[in-house]
Amino acid sequence: MIKKAEFVTSSQKYTDCPPPFKPEYAFIGRSNVGKSSLINMISNKKALAKTSSTPGKTQLINTFEMDDTWYLTDLPGYGFAKVPKGVRGGFNKMIYDYIEFRKNLVNVFLLIDSRHKPQEIDLQFIQWLGKKGVPFSIVFTKLDKISSTEYQKNLNNYKTELLKTWEELPVIFSSSASSQIGKLEILGYIDSLNEH
Ligand code: GTP
Ligand code: MG
Repeated sequence: MIKKAEFVTSSQKYTDCPPPFKPEYAFIGRSNVGKSSLINMISNKKALAKTSSTPGKTQLINTFEMDDTWYLTDLPGYGFAKVPKGVRGGFNKMIYDYIEFRKNLVNVFLLIDSRHKPQEIDLQFIQWLGKKGVPFSIVFTKLDKISSTEYQKNLNNYKTELLKTWEELPVIFSSSASSQIGKLEILGYIDSLNEH
């Protein structure tokens, strides 16, 4: 369990993020998938990261520090059609540069809405992570909004899709910010990576 969770800073570019001297993890995914909500859930702080039912809430790289030892980063969502094209391009550059060049980034958690079929934009993003050699895991979110049968079906679909291009599956988590599902698993995984 996290004892202390603090907001550090919001940055427009990865170069403005805090000095890269602590291990860092990032939540990434489409707008509205639940990145900010998951940060609040795992840190036991209801309003640490700002959430909204309107997509496009998080617009900067937000760094949070956990237990004085590691950083957790909340990113803007990708693929949000309602922001003007120029702004969207800016978001994408912000996100892609951060992931490619942030030196202390240990693992990216790619959040995917568990209710949806594999989406092209997520699959492309996964291919890009692979091309860049960025370690990542997948978190299927909003588990409370779907039956377990439906979830198993979607999960199997996803695995089949991934195995078309990947030899091995990434580590996969499932979560619900409203039902507190997935917290221990995700934190346990981060702990195990921090110990290396
Ligand atoms: P952007 O910052 O816009 O990219 O979105 P985000 O990915 O940070 O999503 P955010 O956490 O703001 O959540 C979006 C909406 O989904 C909010 O209305 C949340 O309350 C809701 N939500 C997030 N996680 C869950 C969940 O696990 N279950 C349910 N039922 N709703 C969720
Ligand atoms: Mg957000």
